[in-house]
Amino acid sequence: MVQGAQAGTRLIRLGWPDVGPEELAAVAEVLESGFLTMGPKVDEFELGIAAACGIADAVAVSSGTAALHLAVLALGIGEGDEVIVPAYTFPATANVVVLSGATPVLVDVDPQTMNLDPSAVYDAVTERTRAVIAVHLFGRPLDWEALQSAVPPDVALIEDAAGALGARWRGMPCGGLGVMGCLSFHPRKVVTTGEGGAVTTSDPELAAALRRLRHHGIDVHAGADIVRPSTNYRLSDLQCAIGITQLARLDELLRERRRVAEAYSERLAGVVTTPEADEGDDHGWQAYVVQVDRRDDVLAGLRGQGIEAQIGTYALQRLSAYRDQGRFPSADVCFERALALPLHSRLGDAEIDRIAAALDKEVSTH
Ligand SMILES: Cc1ncc(COP(=O)(O)O)c(C=O)c1O
Repeated sequence: MVQGAQAGTRLIRLGWPDVGPEELAAVAEVLESGFLTMGPKVDEFELGIAAACGIADAVAVSSGTAALHLAVLALGIGEGDEVIVPAYTFPATANVVVLSGATPVLVDVDPQTMNLDPSAVYDAVTERTRAVIAVHLFGRPLDWEALQSAVPPDVALIEDAAGALGARWRGMPCGGLGVMGCLSFHPRKVVTTGEGGAVTTSDPELAAALRRLRHHGIDVHAGADIVRPSTNYRLSDLQCAIGITQLARLDELLRERRRVAEAYSERLAGVVTTPEADEGDDHGWQAYVVQVDRRDDVLAGLRGQGIEAQIGTYALQRLSAYRDQGRFPSADVCFERALALPLHSRLGDAEIDRIAAALDKEVSTH
């Protein structure tokens, strides 16, 4: 075990993927099977993801970023088109729009929920708007109805549910609300395959387009012709086997995250601004992100005490690539105040007490 910055304190890791003997056995089975990629585990994993999102189909791909990129491409979005994205998000949400040749239009977020502000979305719609990529940030469900009312019906709503597998908006699974839902299986996500992602959809034509686009543009059911060249975004059977095992444990994985989140909220109420979901929604707890003043000092203080905290995510207008798009005051506030605390199933009460006490101390010092 790595030691923390102060002698004698153990480093508390930000994340720790919950994988064990079942995932190991699943990988061993694939290694012995002779199908390392595009074999039966891909199909089985896709069925499991679709079921978890309450939707007809899912297409497994190599990352959450690949999922978002293919969702944009599958809609035929490109040069001259605009796609609305939150100003406060992981950069992949906007980068894939640029990679597709279209223009990402940054929109401010709500400073409390840290999700897209629907009234700002309404103001940003133009004749060129083809889609919104709506993020359920850190696993907190976005108010889907408010978003739907903010845009004309011909604007496609793509969910960036990278961190929202298992979250529910009014009882309905996130990742199954939009025309497509994009998931990530990075190790800091609820379900992991090491690296990995998926696009969900109930539209068979979009599903077929996504399957071609992840495989060079080839339709495996229609000969070897390529009409629209694409790239390789496939996910291997090895990774899907891990994913199948993880999905079978989804309730347990979510329960563990909820346990830690509830323990934090109990200890930190009144100390910092704690995260929550809207009434009637279930937070997926991909990350537990509080808001504090003087975040950088508090973050440095926690790290000095051997606690691996992290910033929330990025305010895109502060990055050189997106600097010319105007002011997004709430995204600025979120960027300056958000602080992610360690969140994984290995955290017991003693570690949570230590983190809460350290945060209390840092907040009262700065
Ligand atoms: C909101 C959001 N979108 C997209 C991604 C990209 O996912 P991946 O790392 O699997 O490419 C992430 C990753 O953290 C994310 O948080």
